[in-house]
Amino acid sequence: MAHLLEAKNITKRFGGLTAVDDVSFYVDEGEVVAFVGDNGAGKSTLIKIISGVHKPDIGEIFLDGEKIHIGSPIDAINYGIETIYQDLALAENMDVPSNIFLGRESTKKIFGVVPVVNHEHMMRESHKVLDRLDIDIPSLKSNIRNLSGGQRQAVAISRSIYWKARVLIMDEPTAALGIAEQKKVLELVSSLRTQGIAIIIISHQMYDVFSVADRIIVMRRGIKAGERLVKNTTSEEIVSLIVGAESVEKRSQ
Ligand SMILES: Nc1ncnc2c1ncn2[C@@H]1O[C@H](COP(=O)(O)OP(=O)(O)OP(=O)(O)O)[C@@H](O)[C@H]1O
Ligand SMILES: [Mg+2]
Repeated sequence: MAHLLEAKNITKRFGGLTAVDDVSFYVDEGEVVAFVGDNGAGKSTLIKIISGVHKPDIGEIFLDGEKIHIGSPIDAINYGIETIYQDLALAENMDVPSNIFLGRESTKKIFGVVPVVNHEHMMRESHKVLDRLDIDIPSLKSNIRNLSGGQRQAVAISRSIYWKARVLIMDEPTAALGIAEQKKVLELVSSLRTQGIAIIIISHQMYDVFSVADRIIVMRRGIKAGERLVKNTTSEEIVSLIVGAESVEKRSQ
């Protein structure tokens, strides 16, 4: 069976710098793949290629085994690839439904002609998606600015799920959160996995990676330095791969 999403031999250069160097990886339905690596290792650049922000210099991307061309973020979204960046890109002074529908507002026509935003529909649909993900936000009418970090993250995730993400990419989803909220977000990721979504998560937090991922890919200075199933590795081994202790890589090959 073809992988849900597969990237082959991706290379991306910025001037003289090779940010991503011949990296291949895949993710399947209901699987969580974590990318780890030091600052500047090429993790964000790699996912930005999948999400249509950057074009690779070399490489191919396949969805369900078919080669696809992701020329822009809109292309990626149309393929069911949704990305949540660290800044979340939520509108601070708008409420939850407006954020879930941001840029894709549902409208109805008054007197059959004048299109207006259909708030009731957006509110109903927002309740549905939040319930499905078991997310508790006391009032959906609150502006995003009044929500906690974890609640914001949950709104961003709900938005992706509502718009039928098959692949969800998250860049450092827990970095700015308190302990309890980190736990909630990780639970949310686990529940998305059981719903068959393929998840790519970038994280510096070893705890997150080991509690939520099935597979870990280690990036080091643009290359894929190693790949391990969580059940077959330890955080010590992953740290050695991150910093480039070659002996560990050789020993485990
Ligand atoms: N738009 C850009 N123009 C030029 N260089 C870039 C650009 N984006 C990233 N780089 C460089 O590419 C390399 C990889 O950066 P990238 O952001 O992918 O790293 P990262 O693994 O996500 O790091 P971090 O963990 O710090 O987020 C870095 O050396 C970075 O400076
Ligand atoms: Mg990054």
